[in-house]
Amino acid sequence: MTSDDVRHLHLRAAGTSVALELSGGLLPVVRHWGSDLGPLGDDDLAGLALAAGAARGDSPFDVADRVSVVPEHALAWIGRPGVEGSRSGRDWSPALRTTGEPEVSTLPDGTQRLLVRSADTTAHLGLDLELELHPGGLLRLRATLTSTGGGRYDVGAVRLGLPVPERAGELLDFTGRHTFERIPQRRPFGAGVHSREVRTGRTGLDAVHLLCAGEPGFGFRSGQVWAVHLGWSGNQQTYAERLSNGARLLGSGEALEHGEVSLGPGESYATPWVYAAHGTGLDEVSGRFHAWLRSRPHAPTRPRPVTLNTWEAVYFDQSFERLTALADLGARVGAERFVLDDGWFGGRRDDTTSLGDWTVSPDVWPDGLGPLVEHVHRLGMEFGLWVEPEMVSRDSDLARAHPEWLFSGGGRPGLESRQQHVLDLGHPGAYAHVHDQLLDLLHRHDIAYLKWDHNRYLNDAGHTPGGEAGVHAHTLAAYRLMDELVAARPGLEIESCAGGGGRIDLGVLDRCVRVWASDCIDPLERQQIQRWTFALLPPGWVGTHVGSPRSHTTGRRHDLSFRAQTALWGHMGIEWDLTAADEDELVELAAWVRLHKQQRDLLHGGTVVNGDHHDDDTWVHGVVAPDRSRALYDVASLRRAPSGPGRVRLPGLDPDRRYRVSAPDPAAGLPGVLPRTLSMSVPWARAGVVLTGRVLDEIGIPMLPLLPEHAHLVHVTEV
Ligand code: GLA
Repeated sequence: MTSDDVRHLHLRAAGTSVALELSGGLLPVVRHWGSDLGPLGDDDLAGLALAAGAARGDSPFDVADRVSVVPEHALAWIGRPGVEGSRSGRDWSPALRTTGEPEVSTLPDGTQRLLVRSADTTAHLGLDLELELHPGGLLRLRATLTSTGGGRYDVGAVRLGLPVPERAGELLDFTGRHTFERIPQRRPFGAGVHSREVRTGRTGLDAVHLLCAGEPGFGFRSGQVWAVHLGWSGNQQTYAERLSNGARLLGSGEALEHGEVSLGPGESYATPWVYAAHGTGLDEVSGRFHAWLRSRPHAPTRPRPVTLNTWEAVYFDQSFERLTALADLGARVGAERFVLDDGWFGGRRDDTTSLGDWTVSPDVWPDGLGPLVEHVHRLGMEFGLWVEPEMVSRDSDLARAHPEWLFSGGGRPGLESRQQHVLDLGHPGAYAHVHDQLLDLLHRHDIAYLKWDHNRYLNDAGHTPGGEAGVHAHTLAAYRLMDELVAARPGLEIESCAGGGGRIDLGVLDRCVRVWASDCIDPLERQQIQRWTFALLPPGWVGTHVGSPRSHTTGRRHDLSFRAQTALWGHMGIEWDLTAADEDELVELAAWVRLHKQQRDLLHGGTVVNGDHHDDDTWVHGVVAPDRSRALYDVASLRRAPSGPGRVRLPGLDPDRRYRVSAPDPAAGLPGVLPRTLSMSVPWARAGVVLTGRVLDEIGIPMLPLLPEHAHLVHVTEV
């Protein structure tokens, strides 16, 4: 990579190449984003630019030959433009040209960075583009648009796009709803725009999560895949666009409402970062996101504490006696953090009231929270607290004193959802109110952790008194609030929760270290929710709890072994009224927590792998140590399979090394595994077997016949 007279730039990291053409004063044109092309000289790159240019167009009427990362109509891109906006109808189609040499640098962590400044002097606009390739192969881009003169420039959208090749013929993204997040949906990459838009002011239970385009039939281990994700917790759009001439692009940006961002001379608007990863199979794509998060300055370096959360244990029925009894049992089974959920503040005895009044309830906690916090600390656990700082109940001192701080579109108070409204943090007074109340709590008590909830849409979110759209400002203010609290209380950890997994994105994860993946902790549902949440986040960042024997959201009953083996894989926790558990259950739960702690470095530091099992009734996933000396797999039977249990392949090991494969100690009892199995039908299970990584990946091993809705672990260690 050279910095003088850069016409072509080839960035390479961890098996990814990004070849950029920087010629003719244009914004960078991506000529290749995908597998590593190996070292290429200037001549090779010039050839590549020709080879990767327009291969389409048997018609003289086609003009679009190249698309920059900010697609421009002025360059004959006939799809969605990168910049939309105008000055009362003028300057709506900018033609941005570079204003100096591109700046190429390498950051201390090895990230390769490109900064290109550009302007359209006729439209009085400037645009700075930043593009970074992280050592783990994750690419990210953002743009800053500046109005350099004239009247106000109303920004409609600033989107960034990356081209993908024609063979990316299939799309995968996600939808979902409360207690049922991360439902994958696949479709052919047809002509037109497949756009996922969020207008609810948060990432969404139905978030796109990752938008992937890949070779048809791509799986976890096979098929090339290109994926994008927007690091933003407000309104957004992420889309796949295929033009009639065959060009394909994945794009993303914030979804702005009319008038939401209006730039005066010299004012700027910065887009959120668009993240992008390529890989052979989804596992490689996920690995790039995982490497990125694990390398962030705020990434946790200490083991993730096993968490006891009070919500499904007691709901609003809080008392010192009840919660200390729960804490005692939590400590006994190995919990390391106790999180007091909703119901500790104001008059909050149910969910109709008191959001916004972040002071300890004198009715429930006449002596304050101090005695409970001390009790928890004496048991050797950290103390954490649930808050929902962006929300307000009509029945609250806050709403009575400042009704004008509630979002209100068109003079309407807005529809309630879960009997609550949204506090518009765009009002400095509203911001100061929650900031000061939360800071006061953090000063009064040794609170190591906030579970930060967000249970209502920000739809129809008008900033009073004028009613202007307020989600953009609110989202930035929520980020600032988190940042300021963490700065004021170093070491404070924040979990992002939004009615479960409604705010999971790399924007909020710049300040949070855990997400609550779903309000559903039925392990059968959780297998799916976690599989796909882990597609973006490393397991140590995802809260996974053992619930009660009968799921509160589905009514299903599951053995503790399946509940615990499902929770084992993430940031493990317990959300179950342990005072209702019997002695056997407590002993077994303690054993699962012990196993989690023994394997925690592998579970949270390893490479996530998923098997492309031949049927969808059995799922195989695991983690492989970075040096590939050991691995742990989970084989889960979701339903009875028509062809029987079959053989499972264990991916991700070193093909040439030899490994001992063992099932858990049969003497410990294996609930869910048919009893005759170990001695009869699956000979390897009793004594283990030594096989190469290649054999384990190519051929696999017969699985233990499992009852449906059960799982078992497979330990793999290099010999
Ligand atoms: C949301 C969260 C739950 C719990 C409740 C409390 O639903 O997702 O985990 O904290 O709020 O009201």
